[in-house]
Amino acid sequence: KKVVLAYSGGLDTSIILKWLQTEYGCEVVTFTADLGQGEELEPARQKALTLGIKPENIHVEDVREEFVRDFVFPMFRANAVYEGLYLLGTSIARPLISKRLVEIAEETGADAVAHGATGKGNDQVRFELAAYALNPDIKVIAPWREWDLTSRTKLLDFAEKNQIPIAKDKRGEAPFSVDANLLHTSSEGKVLEDPAEMAPDYVYQRTVNPEDAPNEPEYIEVGFERGDAVSVNGEAMSPATVLTKLNELGGKHGVGRLDLVEGRFVGMKSRGIYETPGGTILLEAHRGIESITMDRGAMHLKDQLMPQYAELIYNGFWFSPERTMLQAAIDASQTHVTGTVRLKLYKGSARTVGRWSDHSLYSEAHVTFEDDAGAYDQKDAAGFIQLNALRLKLLAARDRRLKG
Ligand code: ARG
Ligand code: SIN
Repeated sequence: KKVVLAYSGGLDTSIILKWLQTEYGCEVVTFTADLGQGEELEPARQKALTLGIKPENIHVEDVREEFVRDFVFPMFRANAVYEGLYLLGTSIARPLISKRLVEIAEETGADAVAHGATGKGNDQVRFELAAYALNPDIKVIAPWREWDLTSRTKLLDFAEKNQIPIAKDKRGEAPFSVDANLLHTSSEGKVLEDPAEMAPDYVYQRTVNPEDAPNEPEYIEVGFERGDAVSVNGEAMSPATVLTKLNELGGKHGVGRLDLVEGRFVGMKSRGIYETPGGTILLEAHRGIESITMDRGAMHLKDQLMPQYAELIYNGFWFSPERTMLQAAIDASQTHVTGTVRLKLYKGSARTVGRWSDHSLYSEAHVTFEDDAGAYDQKDAAGFIQLNALRLKLLAARDRRLKG
């Protein structure tokens, strides 16, 4: 039996690795992805070697470009936001990890994949729905749902017994659970579990406190082509480079901090602290460029579809026919979403202050408060209003009649 494990190199997935070897008697293949979490990956390789994984069974990959190009950008074309606030930074990374787990399983002749998500959360659902959608025969092992290592003490005892190195700061309780990638950093649990209590400052990892951000605003320009960001300040960049650059700019100005309570797919609510510096700028900029290039009817329909699209991603249905259908509609809406947005970054905010495009639908000739030289005949509006009012007048007349 062979299993491909999503391995971060951290304590928990190292324990899972050993547990798969000892309790399941599996040959373990590790997959460690660079999604832009800002950690060196070589230590994960070394640790896997130390734990007895054969070199040919260790897979370490930089998937940042694929992540942003094929997952983050398609999602941002929709302006996807879950429950009005969450930019889906963890949700959108899981299908990519699963895709690679399944592919590596096929390449190495493994019949199973394993992940380190708990039985209480969304991530288990996302990993597994994606895996089954891509390979209906794959087996999934979710140690957190199976083992009896139900406390920190039991976990640490297991680690010690199996010679798994434990970083000094990991001996006590982990302060909270973190998931990070190029799009966001999320922190949940422990000191954050009481939603009435303000999160301590040390929870934030990639943005400065807006109060400590520069006193001078910074103006930036983001260029778009067909709905995707392709340049920052006039410099053409790859998808992952754009997001990296926007993260740096947003982080410096304290953009994209969020403290929220969300409804998990499994039914419970959870409180999280999220930092999405580049993504927050990107969402604002994308709305900015759409505002001048996209037809109102298309935009309003897209905005109606958005909550459902966001929920599909949140719930783990990236690889589903309904997500693919919505994506086709969303992508079709982006044909003319090309141009440039100018934004002001200042103490936690990112606001559009200018936008221009060769594909613009904005007509100053029509909208001007000055003499429009016949571009628009204001008299046309009278009939437009009368016909729209007809229903309302008939309703009002009936009300009046029935009231006597
Ligand atoms: N609640 C977020 C989501 O479901 C993040 C989950 C993972 N985060 C974590 N800190 N373990 O997408
Ligand atoms: C987990 O339970 O492993 C993290 C939180 C989540 O998946 O929602």
